[in-house]
Amino acid sequence: MSFIQYLVRRALCPALAAFALSTAHADDSDNPTPSLEMGAEVYAKRCVLCHGQSGMGEGILPMKLKNYPNTNLMIEQKAKDRNQIKQVVIYGGYFSGFNEAMPPYGQELSWTEVESVADFVELMRENPEQAAAMIQSYRAEQLPALQLGKEAYDTRCVLCHGKYGEGDGRMAKILKDPPPFDLTASRVPEMYLREIIRLGGEAMGRSKHMPPWGDQLSDKEINALVTYLMTIRD
Ligand code: HEC
Ligand code: HEC
Repeated sequence: MSFIQYLVRRALCPALAAFALSTAHADDSDNPTPSLEMGAEVYAKRCVLCHGQSGMGEGILPMKLKNYPNTNLMIEQKAKDRNQIKQVVIYGGYFSGFNEAMPPYGQELSWTEVESVADFVELMRENPEQAAAMIQSYRAEQLPALQLGKEAYDTRCVLCHGKYGEGDGRMAKILKDPPPFDLTASRVPEMYLREIIRLGGEAMGRSKHMPPWGDQLSDKEINALVTYLMTIRD
């Protein structure tokens, strides 16, 4: 199976495949130093879905799907050290001898983020209480952004994307080709979300019916929307 087939099989959209195949890591310039705080943030945003908040494999995905591979990071510790953790995060399960359901993050996360999340996984194993407290505090910081994001979503996006983001708003009856995206199935990176919301679909080679919001929403609101959209993903 080629890397592209792999991405398609993982039901990622073509835009992400293009993204993933570009060679550069995501831009690092804003946050050059790895930190446990950044690791907690990356983990909370990207890894909780499958590995659970405590890393015990209690994510929504394995709980929902039958026969999902075990995602407990604590018990077997198959990635034995920091290097192996980085390896599997960068290349994904398919290329690291683990289950292919572990996605590759090498093109989506910056080096700093990869280093940080590897440190954080180690912290979870060595000091689970401290790691849990860091995730809690990250979540508490996010709350105001989530509220702002939901508010912006409910006033500007519901009409097309629907109350729960499933692409079934009232305008979906008229907009068919393509319909408003099912945002719970979206897998594009945050950077891409920010761009398409700011610039609209047409500027990104997508449907012109996805309006540009850059003139109407502040950067703060757009960032908040992105934070919110990340939480409604399946
Ligand atoms: C879509 C689900 C999913 C997401 C999201 C995900 N993983 Fe995984 N991950 C898996 C699965 C499934 C395995 C099990 C692979 C196996 O056992 O063969 C795994 C395995 C691993 C392993 C090796 C297992 C071990 O015991 O050491 C590490 C480390 C890991 N993931 C870290 C992460 C990190 C860090 C993130 C976030 C950046 C992440 N994963 C996001 C599904 C996921
Ligand atoms: C008038 C209808 C309409 C409104 C209002 C609208 N969208 Fe869209 N949106 C679309 C359509 C249609 C697409 C599909 C574009 C395509 O696939 O080419 C889309 C696609 C998207 C995507 C791409 C998802 C992906 O994974 O590729 C995002 C993100 C998005 N919209 C976010 C928003 C946000 C946030 C708002 C509110 C600020 C919003 N949209 C308001 C119609 C709309």
